[in-house]
Amino acid sequence: MADVHGRKAAGGERATGVRGRFVWARAAIAVAAIAIVAGAWLWQQYAAQPGGLALAAADPARIEAGAAIYRSHCAACHGAKLEGQPNWRQRNANGRLPAPPHDDSGHTWHHPDRMLFEITRDGMKPPIAPDGYQSDMPGFGAVLSDEQIWSVLAFIASRWSQREREHQARVTRAHEAPR
Ligand code: HEC
Repeated sequence: MADVHGRKAAGGERATGVRGRFVWARAAIAVAAIAIVAGAWLWQQYAAQPGGLALAAADPARIEAGAAIYRSHCAACHGAKLEGQPNWRQRNANGRLPAPPHDDSGHTWHHPDRMLFEITRDGMKPPIAPDGYQSDMPGFGAVLSDEQIWSVLAFIASRWSQREREHQARVTRAHEAPR
């Protein structure tokens, strides 16, 4: 009995020995290919902003570009000094919220990089806002490039105090951790 089993096992091992190496090589190639594709995708997601807004907010060229974009595209609603519209916590007659400040007194710095990017690109749309949510915040995806959106956000982040900027960097890290 033991002898028969032993021989069978030996035969089986020989068979998987040859084919097994092929299987392993192909699996290794597949895993490597998946890793490269996933890595490239992740890199693309964050390439525009390595180190996040916290780092970009310390880059003078980036801030200067962002300040110009802010003046021409955001200041009319969010204020030349990022102060927001008066009584920004109270809804307008049309039921919509006024534009909040982007400085320390607002809540822009409560949100992670990616969310700020998506609000600016798409406006207040699901999944960030509930379905059918009415908002005066326009989406800038058709007007500004991804790079320009990161620049204007970097300018805004550069205006936060150190404490707010550090908080926002922590929120961003926590938000991105599971990816
Ligand atoms: C036509 C007016 C208007 C313009 C122009 C505008 N916004 Fe807004 N924005 C709003 C309003 C109103 C809200 C609040 C939306 C809400 O909660 O419904 C808002 C909200 C936001 C928020 C979310 C803030 C938070 O704390 O939740 C961000 C980020 C933002 N705007 C970025 C920008 C940027 C960047 C620009 C310029 C590229 C810009 N906005 C231009 C009206 C505007």
